[in-house]
Amino acid sequence: MKTPTILLTALLAFMLWSCGGSEKPADAQTGGEAPKSMVADPESYDPKRGEGKWTTENINLGATLDAAMATEGEKISGVKCTSCHKMTEEKLVGPGWKGATLKRTPEWIMNFITNPDPMIDKDPEVQAMLELCLVRMPNQNLSDTDARNILEYMRKIDGVK
Ligand code: HEC
Repeated sequence: MKTPTILLTALLAFMLWSCGGSEKPADAQTGGEAPKSMVADPESYDPKRGEGKWTTENINLGATLDAAMATEGEKISGVKCTSCHKMTEEKLVGPGWKGATLKRTPEWIMNFITNPDPMIDKDPEVQAMLELCLVRMPNQNLSDTDARNILEYMRKIDGVK
């Protein structure tokens, strides 16, 4: 009577193990990947806000220009952006900046300049620019402060006083 019991136990153990084994990756997938795949769903992409952490809630825009911030933004742009962007409407490698803050929301600009890749993949407007420019804007590794200062500089270019 001993051998069948061992066999049954072994079979049972194997069944439990294999169920556990097949459940684990599925769990990890739904647990870890679900929010990401929801974002990847083009239906959930918001073309006004773009994709990233910036929203109307966490960008503080003054009614008037913060000149000190704009000056800082101009400095960083000189290092990281002006090789591809002019401050006029004229295209260089990328589109000219003049008018960008009128066409795009502040959160769209902040999301795009801090992490262009997902928006290049999803945003119809960015894809239209890519078709003209034939270059994907590289991630310039801007800090939040750099990005915010550049946004202020772009507002200055568009005439905010
Ligand atoms: C290697 C060239 C290159 C560099 C450097 C670069 N960009 Fe771009 N940028 C592009 C291209 C090209 C596009 C158009 C979208 C695309 O093709 O990816 C673009 C698009 C943009 C847009 C959208 C403009 C619009 O009219 O909607 C903004 C804003 C922008 N860049 C900001 C920046 C900032 C800020 C920096 C510096 C931190 C920077 N770029 C550095 C190439 C560049």
